[in-house]
Amino acid sequence: MWQLRMNEAKVQVSQGTDGSVRDQLARLREQQERLFAQLHAGEQHFKQLARSVWRVQEDERRRLARELHDGIGQQLTALKHRLDALARAGGGCGDASTPLCQALEICDSAIQETRALSRLLRPQILDDLGLEAALNWLARHSAESGGYEVEVDVAVPGPIDGDISTLIFRVAQEALTNVLKHAAAKHVVVRLAQRQDQWLQFLIVDDGRGVDVDAAFAKASGGHSTGLASMRERVRLFGGRFTVVSRPGEGMQLRVLVPQLEGEAAP
Ligand SMILES: Nc1ncnc2c1ncn2[C@@H]1O[C@H](COP(=O)(O)OP(=O)(O)OP(=O)(O)O)[C@@H](O)[C@H]1O
Ligand SMILES: [Mg+2]
Repeated sequence: MWQLRMNEAKVQVSQGTDGSVRDQLARLREQQERLFAQLHAGEQHFKQLARSVWRVQEDERRRLARELHDGIGQQLTALKHRLDALARAGGGCGDASTPLCQALEICDSAIQETRALSRLLRPQILDDLGLEAALNWLARHSAESGGYEVEVDVAVPGPIDGDISTLIFRVAQEALTNVLKHAAAKHVVVRLAQRQDQWLQFLIVDDGRGVDVDAAFAKASGGHSTGLASMRERVRLFGGRFTVVSRPGEGMQLRVLVPQLEGEAAP
């Protein structure tokens, strides 16, 4: 009898302990879920803020580019016309060492530099004619400077969101600058397509000298470069994926996957 009572008591104690452990576990799980939700909300908020900062930066670049082009650029062009008229009145620029002809030359290079700076800040073609035209323009310029062949293929049926267009253009700008600086490529392919799940896939592939990808990203963590790392950060801000495939001697493939709609998560 005594033994039986002891056993009953043990069962009660163990049930009581199990119950409180279960309660505690449930409370901990609840707490954990709440913390995860807060973390997720904080992360979303941070991404939204970072995207807003980026948007403001792009607006500022757009404004500066237009001011450079329409302000200083126009004035320099007017100055060049006057100098041209003066030079013609004096018999032309047969002798390039005269001060007037030198002034004309300086004026010419100032116009070129102003235009180049304005395009670098934000090419008007992106706002006026859209992403496809801007990619073609960028690729053509890059190929001319780099002496390689470039193939551009854009197959997106509908209009592309403004922020996503800017994002893809900025990635292309940095990637093609990298091809010029590092790849010594003969052939480059720039391809933008819409997948069946509506996500945009952007590829830039070169057949240049390639690189060890880990070493390339390590340069960024060592503070020696920013290009690849900032492309990756920007793409992630828009919920996208950024992949680089490369090996020494085997060219480079840069792949970006972005949602058409802001805030969608990667599949
Ligand atoms: N297309 C490419 N072909 C071969 N190597 C490349 C290519 N793109 C990048 N790399 C290598 O990866 C490294 C990191 O590239 P990243 O764009 O981050 O830096 P960077 O171009 O050297 O400097 P930054 O972009 O900051 O002016 C480069 O230094 C280069 O060694
Ligand atoms: Mg770079």
